[in-house]
Amino acid sequence: MQNETMSSNPETRSASSRVVDALERPLHDLRISLLDQCNFRCPYCMPVSTFNSDYEFLKRQQRLSHDEIIRIATAATALGVSKIRLTGGEPLLDKSIAGLIERLAVLPGVDDLALTTNGMLLAPLAKQLADAGLHRVTISLDSVDKDIFARMSGDRGDLDRVLAGIDAAARAGLGPLKINAVVQKGVNDHVVLDLLEHFRGSGHIVRLIEFMDVGNRNGWRMDQVVASRLLLDTVQARWPVRAVGKNYPGEVARRYEYVDGAGEIGFISSVTEPFCGDCSRARLSADGKLYTCLFANQGTDLRESLRNGADDQEIKDILSSIWLQRADRYSELRRPELAEHHVLKKVEMYRIGG
Ligand SMILES: C[S@@+](CC[C@H](N)C(=O)[O-])C[C@H]1O[C@@H](n2cnc3c(N)ncnc32)[C@H](O)[C@@H]1O
Ligand code: SF4
Repeated sequence: MQNETMSSNPETRSASSRVVDALERPLHDLRISLLDQCNFRCPYCMPVSTFNSDYEFLKRQQRLSHDEIIRIATAATALGVSKIRLTGGEPLLDKSIAGLIERLAVLPGVDDLALTTNGMLLAPLAKQLADAGLHRVTISLDSVDKDIFARMSGDRGDLDRVLAGIDAAARAGLGPLKINAVVQKGVNDHVVLDLLEHFRGSGHIVRLIEFMDVGNRNGWRMDQVVASRLLLDTVQARWPVRAVGKNYPGEVARRYEYVDGAGEIGFISSVTEPFCGDCSRARLSADGKLYTCLFANQGTDLRESLRNGADDQEIKDILSSIWLQRADRYSELRRPELAEHHVLKKVEMYRIGG
């Protein structure tokens, strides 16, 4: 395999071989969606018109077991993955998540183990997750206005509980916390400064995300997107900020810090300023499909291979060959007029977790 290279550091990655894709991008991050269910119904992700009592979520047997997840994660780390993020759906609905974290945290090569959650169930769990070996948490919170927050969670969220979850995560040492907010025109763009003000000086990093055309069910339209550069102008006018460099290659957020020292904010502009160039993420859905792009229309079924008896070397070979062929750069090639008409079949965000 041409693009595969042996690790230069045998002590840390003795049996590993790193792999790069057709555009020379390494496989560095693995996002694991634990389940497709969620206790929220954010209209931009799981609109209640579709995700109601008639909707059939995956049954337990259809989801990867924790043993199966560990096997795939082990193969991925052998190919160079060092960052793992657990997501969903809502990952904290998995009652044995702490046990899975304990096993992932000790995989050789994993130096960053993170979780993305809506925060509803976080407060009572934060310490247990940190004790299990979780390093960091990202909490999705679109507004600190109670009514707007309620609307953006599909009337399922309780703002005070999410804020308590954020405090508990900080106390448990799961920081620096990132607070992700999807900004939608006419929905929460007018209260973005309130959100920033709430967290200024807290040490938590608010990241403003452009509403993305993921999946086919959220009715995405370009005119609902608020371009990051407009939000940046709004922020600048209130609190001067200056750009800071990337923490690492492949970081999706453009980082800024308040000139007055009140901390950092970020912008994730996958619609207006796409960033496929150094994307190093693979995504595993709860039913075991591996996707090489957030906007992919199909994944490779690893569950079937596992359940048909593939051994560890075979799983590693499958992952490696998927990555070697990868040439995705949907965001850079996006055509909004096609996205608006939903003619492209794309995987839904709740299935692969953002
Ligand atoms: C799919 S959720 C899964 C984890 C968890 N339920 C949560 O909300 O944090 C992961 C992230 O995707 C973001 N997201 C979902 N749909 C989106 C969209 N259409 N555009 C931008 N971000 C989106 C959410 O705001 C969240 O931060
Ligand atoms: S963004 Fe997260 S919390 Fe909201 S519906 Fe999607 S999976 Fe659930």
